[in-house]
Amino acid sequence: MTRSDPSYRYPLVLRVLHWLRAALILGLLALGVTMTLLPDAAPAKFATLYPLHKQFGVLVLLVALVQLGLRARTALPAPPAGLKPWERHLSHAVHRAMLVLAVVVPLMGYAMSASYAQSDGVPFFGVMLPELLPKNDHAFEVFRLLHKALAFTLAGLVALHVAGVVKHRLFDKANDVLPRML
Ligand code: HEM
Ligand code: HEM
Repeated sequence: MTRSDPSYRYPLVLRVLHWLRAALILGLLALGVTMTLLPDAAPAKFATLYPLHKQFGVLVLLVALVQLGLRARTALPAPPAGLKPWERHLSHAVHRAMLVLAVVVPLMGYAMSASYAQSDGVPFFGVMLPELLPKNDHAFEVFRLLHKALAFTLAGLVALHVAGVVKHRLFDKANDVLPRML
């Protein structure tokens, strides 16, 4: 199979959604860490950055769900033929974990906000979303911890994922996987 063969690459819609979701997730990880480190007195913290983080976080949830739905209905390219078995297993496991966490991390973020008694609400491009959980300080702390721990797990997996792509691109050129997603 050559690189010009359409079955070599991911279908266009999945490639577009991959990069959109990647950009949103990388931005949200950086924004999440920055905004929580800012002192509470910083004017932008709760007025601008938290609402921005929540809004784009909900957008990731929608993009990730659409991507999963389309992915389930689309034929995916076979793994690159030259991968060693451990590379194939590891990359599959990391892909699957990232697909799941791209849904679960924003869900935990929403659950944290919805269960927080003093929440300013969850904005989404001009509308306030309903907060569907009962207000409960204990549940809030659990969701907050889960959101943080799973977001950092996702960050670690993304680092591993990118390291794998770079390894194949620079040191294992026969199995360069980047063109499959471009
Ligand atoms: C894939 C999507 C998301 C990612 C990667 C992400 C990532 C993060 C990260 C890394 C932090 C900093 C954690 C810390 O250091 O304490 C954070 C905090 C936060 N996130 Fe998200 N987040 C996402 C979606 C959401 C959503 C959808 C909401 C709510 C609707 C949300 C609400 C919050 C809130 C309120 C905080 C601050 C928690 C605090 O003050 O301790 N996040 N997020
Ligand atoms: C700049 C960073 C990134 C680069 C360079 C990159 C590159 C790639 C490449 C080349 C592939 C195809 C691998 C193959 O088929 O062997 C891929 C697949 C994948 N990437 Fe990324 N990626 C990045 C960020 C992310 C992020 C942030 C996520 C978070 C969810 C992600 C999730 C995935 C998933 C789930 C797949 C498997 C595709 C599928 O089976 O649907 N990537 N990526």
